[in-house]
Formats: sequence, C-alpha cells, structure tokens
Amino acid sequence: MRDSSSPEIHEFTTTLEVNGQRHRLTVRHHWSLLDVLREQLDLTGAKRGCDRGECGSCTVLLAGRPVYACQVLAMQVGQRPVVTVEGVVGADAQALDPVQQAFLENDGAQCGYCTPGFVIAVRALLDDNPHPSEEEIRAALAGNLCRCNAYGRILQSVRDAAS
Ligand code: FES
Ligand code: FES
Repeated sequence: MRDSSSPEIHEFTTTLEVNGQRHRLTVRHHWSLLDVLREQLDLTGAKRGCDRGECGSCTVLLAGRPVYACQVLAMQVGQRPVVTVEGVVGADAQALDPVQQAFLENDGAQCGYCTPGFVIAVRALLDDNPHPSEEEIRAALAGNLCRCNAYGRILQSVRDAAS
C-alpha cells in the first residue's frame, strides 16, 4: 500500500533551451523552472523570494514574455526558450545591456535581491515598447516588489534605459 504521506515521485527527461544553450535534464514532476535553473543549471540570477508568485524576484523570459519561474513547472516549458538575467547582455559581449547600465548609473539596486527580476521585466517591456509612458512603465513593473523601497531609482533607471 502506498504511504499517502510520501507521494510518488515521477522523473522525466526533457531538453530546456536556456540563454541560447540546450540542456538535456532529468527532472522531477514537481520541480519548478526556478528549481531547475538554480539547482540543476547553477543559474542563480533568478532569485527565490516568496516562491509563491508574489514578489517577482524569480522573473525570467519564457518565449520572450516575463514569467515567475517559481510558478512554472519545468515540465511545462517544452520547446519555449528561457532567458535569465545571465543571458541579458549588451550588443558587445563585454558590455552591459542598456537596462543593466541604467541600473548601475542610477544606483537602481540597493541590496540587489530584486534586481534580476526587475532587469528581466524591464527588458521585456522595452523589447515590446521601446518608448513607454510613465503609466506603462509602472504597469509593467507592478508584479515586481523591492523590499528596500528603491522604487524611485528603479523607475529612473527604466526612464534612462528607454531614452
Ligand atoms: S519567488 Fe517567484 S514570485 Fe516570488
Ligand atoms: S534592492 Fe533590495 S529588494 Fe530591491
């Protein structure tokens, strides 16, 4: 008889494309994309904050759209490409992406825990809409929280990156 306190664990093999590289992985059915990024692929840029879809610190791009990696099961990703903050680079591999550069220049990170999620959310916004209004910027960042309350500098970073 199966012990109901120890649910059966299923493993499956999948291929994930992350930051342009394909990875063949064996993952458990309950692992989130965030689990796999951080613990299988050592991509620790996406942070585990709340682990329940409330803070945005785990935001990554999935097929170009920002998602909370803690709320996506690895088995749901399929062929869709994933981009983490480690994959956000400038035109020249030595340079920072303009969003990262703007955060640096505006002191947009205090402790920095939320910053990778913000950088991804801003990158997604500007890829879609290079010249967002103030209202559009605030709407795009509504799902990302900063516990250091660095919002003023974060918003200035976005305005600068957009300009
Ligand atoms: S850790 Fe994913 S939303 Fe907070
Ligand atoms: S800079 Fe610390 S949580 Fe945002």
